[in-house]
Amino acid sequence: MAEKRDMVQIDSLEKYFGEDKERVHVLKGVSLNIPEGSLYTFLGPSGCGKTTTLRCVAGLERPDGGKINIGSQTVFASGERVYVPTNKRPIGMVFQSYAIWPHMTVAENVAYPLTIQRRPKTEIKQRVSDVLKIVGLDGLEDRPAPKLSGGQQQRVAFARALINEPKVMLLDEPLSNLDAKLRVQMRSEIKALQRRTNITTIFVTHDQAEALAISDQIAVMHGGKLIEIGSPHQLYSRPKRRFTATFLGLTNLIAGKVLEVDGDSRPGKMQTKKGILSFIPAPGLKKDQAAVISIRPENIPVHKEKPRSLDNVVEGTVKEAIFMGDAYHCKIAVGDDVLAVHTHPFHSISPGEKVYLHLDPKSCNGLPADDTEGIDESMLGD
Ligand SMILES: Nc1ncnc2c1ncn2[C@@H]1O[C@H](COP(=O)(O)OP(=O)(O)OP(=O)(O)O)[C@@H](O)[C@H]1O
Ligand SMILES: [Mg+2]
Repeated sequence: MAEKRDMVQIDSLEKYFGEDKERVHVLKGVSLNIPEGSLYTFLGPSGCGKTTTLRCVAGLERPDGGKINIGSQTVFASGERVYVPTNKRPIGMVFQSYAIWPHMTVAENVAYPLTIQRRPKTEIKQRVSDVLKIVGLDGLEDRPAPKLSGGQQQRVAFARALINEPKVMLLDEPLSNLDAKLRVQMRSEIKALQRRTNITTIFVTHDQAEALAISDQIAVMHGGKLIEIGSPHQLYSRPKRRFTATFLGLTNLIAGKVLEVDGDSRPGKMQTKKGILSFIPAPGLKKDQAAVISIRPENIPVHKEKPRSLDNVVEGTVKEAIFMGDAYHCKIAVGDDVLAVHTHPFHSISPGEKVYLHLDPKSCNGLPADDTEGIDESMLGD
């Protein structure tokens, strides 16, 4: 298969804020490539540097080091002293606050980037009409902006960002002002819009569910560094870093020390307080290393009788079983630890019961115990 071209290339990006003693290192060598036509998400906790990275791509922030290319154009290179200003970069932006002009109609808002470029009136009318169709707002041209719902305002902001036919759309938490239901609906709309227009899109969020639902690729960030890159499926089911496993969805961590490991395709063995457990190792995990096994609550079958002929079975006592409709959410004590386990609602389960948990080695990811420092290149995607 032909390699997809990278539309955005970020190389060794460095950024500091403040002066002297106040100086903080906000981006610490961020490097990533965003394939053309993809929906690419920066995900991470508040303050990890998502917005700063996006603003560097937009040209709203000047990095202290590194290089950024958009398409075949270098828009920033510290060594070569290249800095292309925002209005010369082929980008469209939508922010958390949509920054819609309240004194203007829908059409005037959307036309704004063309109006300031003094494009001919007939061209503006045609292009406004085209983008309003794309976002599903045709017919609302003359509506005053304040008379729009949250979702409609969102679409106006999108239409305005699209009107200059950008190569890259930059979306910084565009859904966080909407109520929960509309958020989910607009999530699908953004994805559908991105598919239709095929515009390379960078989407910033701290909401892991949103990131899983919308993205082709996710770059997980923490403390100004890139932690891991992968598809939603890879990052959720086969994380390579402890931070990824805990930040994306709910997981159980069982601490231990690696006893045996042979590459990353064969199961390894780990000494834990629950005995010796088999697991699938993250790349680079070594014998004798302090490690954790990460296993998701929905991947732990519960047996009432001790299963014979299965590996990785531990005994536990049900502490809590809450019926959620689609599952029981249980807390099960195993030794000193309490594991979160989700079971099928047909199989009733009650506090006080003694049970056997099958920690299927295929669902056990063996990860380095402490991984917020130092990043191995092999973890940054395929
Ligand atoms: N103009 C600024 N001056 C000083 N520090 C700043 C400035 N902008 C951001 N920072 C700091 O840089 C770090 C990264 O900020 P950034 O806005 O990129 O985080 P974020 O990942 O987008 O977080 P959030 O999810 O809260 O939006 C934070 O510690 C923040 O306080
Ligand atoms: Mg932010």
